[in-house]
Amino acid sequence: PLCDIGFIGLGVMGKNLVLNLADNGYKVAAFDLDVDKVNAVIAADQEEQAEGAAARIFGCSQISDLVTMVKKPNLYILSVPAGDPVDKVCAALMEAGIGPKDVVIDTGNSLWTDTVRREAGYRGKFVFFSTAVSGGEVGARFGPSLMPSGDQSAWDVIEPVLAAISAKVDPETGLPIERTKPGEVVNEGEPCTTYIGPAGAGHYVKMVHNGIEYADMQLICEAYHLLRDAVGMSAKEIGQIFQQWNQGVLNSYLMEISAEVLLQDDPETGKPLVEMILDKAGQKGTGLWTAVSSLEAGTPAPTITQAVFARALSTLKSERVEAAKVLTGPALETVAADEREAFIESLHDALYCSKICAYAQGFALMASASKQHGWALDFAAIAKIWRAGCIIRAVFLQSITQAYLAKPDLANLMLDPFFQAQLLDKQANWRKAVAKATLLGIPCPAFSSSINYFDSYRTEVLPANLLQGQRDFFGAHTFERTDKPAGEKYHLNWSSSDRDLTKV
Ligand code: 6PG
Repeated sequence: PLCDIGFIGLGVMGKNLVLNLADNGYKVAAFDLDVDKVNAVIAADQEEQAEGAAARIFGCSQISDLVTMVKKPNLYILSVPAGDPVDKVCAALMEAGIGPKDVVIDTGNSLWTDTVRREAGYRGKFVFFSTAVSGGEVGARFGPSLMPSGDQSAWDVIEPVLAAISAKVDPETGLPIERTKPGEVVNEGEPCTTYIGPAGAGHYVKMVHNGIEYADMQLICEAYHLLRDAVGMSAKEIGQIFQQWNQGVLNSYLMEISAEVLLQDDPETGKPLVEMILDKAGQKGTGLWTAVSSLEAGTPAPTITQAVFARALSTLKSERVEAAKVLTGPALETVAADEREAFIESLHDALYCSKICAYAQGFALMASASKQHGWALDFAAIAKIWRAGCIIRAVFLQSITQAYLAKPDLANLMLDPFFQAQLLDKQANWRKAVAKATLLGIPCPAFSSSINYFDSYRTEVLPANLLQGQRDFFGAHTFERTDKPAGEKYHLNWSSSDRDLTKV
């Protein structure tokens, strides 16, 4: 039978997306360079389906076979590593005869500028479209959050497929509609996908999602570190605290899984597994790209950037082991017993406020990219599709959705009345947590860069006046004056004896 979709790349994400498509009634022709992976997806499908059920997934061992198995116009979905593999597969599809009406969707974590280049480069040969996917293995299987962008001429063909396989949200509560079993399909609720914008926009938004993900993860890690070293709690106790926190404003997928990691024992030694995991963090690049984009755009995302630095610093393990012997900090005391409750409460609030800052930075960054590239991003819609399916899904994305529905051009999330009130209400605790951590010598780079972001953003007169004076002194870089119209440039002749002022 002719298939509805040709799928290329059957790694963890690809395999699960194929099964998800099949559950939603699509016949899929599946290809991977590794034939074992083709066999594995077919075996998984047979295992999940009732005996005697009609096949839904058809394996191919060559891209040229795949092309003959898919209905015209062809729809291909790629789940291959970002970078060269995407172009290699596109070249192979062209060689196998795909044409201008055929659509190829890249679902990898591609660099957004590669996506822009590809859409332009393949124009006329076939329609190159991108759909960034978040949600990991389980999301891919039972409903991810999808960030599509590209040539709108193909959208009518693509939309029903993405809407079917994406996570769904109850529009009233903003909570995910659970789908956990093979064969299950959810047809009601709002799908966690929306057309994001022209080529590159979807991958940019996914990149920022990952930047926020890095910040969210690092913030939770800092709370764990402080509960461990400042309070002296065991991994189990911290896991239980996180479970409690997950019942309130901090409710999120990352909070839930962090609690689970902390509560897990090591099958080898019986100790908490987290204590057996080496403290060297990996990264594949999307957080770094977000940080670089923030620097290039001049739109500060310090919490996200610190989260990337924190991973990099963690990898200097052998240097840290040596430094720990000689760069001694304050004697490490734990928080006094009668201050414990209050300190734990202050950490909760520090985590919450810092998290608001991380999201504020991510949305501000997307706003500046939207302006620069003319994407007209809809931030309420983006917050909506992050409410379920993706890694940063969290209860407070409903409040972010509401903030942008109320004011689509909000300059910064911190200025939304709800988030403003939250920050003002909790800031005393946030300060206490950061101050205590600093006094104890326990690093909390993401907490402290967040509070510095908040304090800098709300400061009417920053010391950049002196900085402009310094620049003018050594390089005649000029300055504007507080008592003259914006844009008028002045220079003081610092080297002359009369130090005269000139309007430049
Ligand atoms: C998601 C994840 C996913 C992936 C990242 C993690 O949204 O589903 O972000 O894209 O897990 O690649 O990246 P690091 O390896 O850089 O942590």
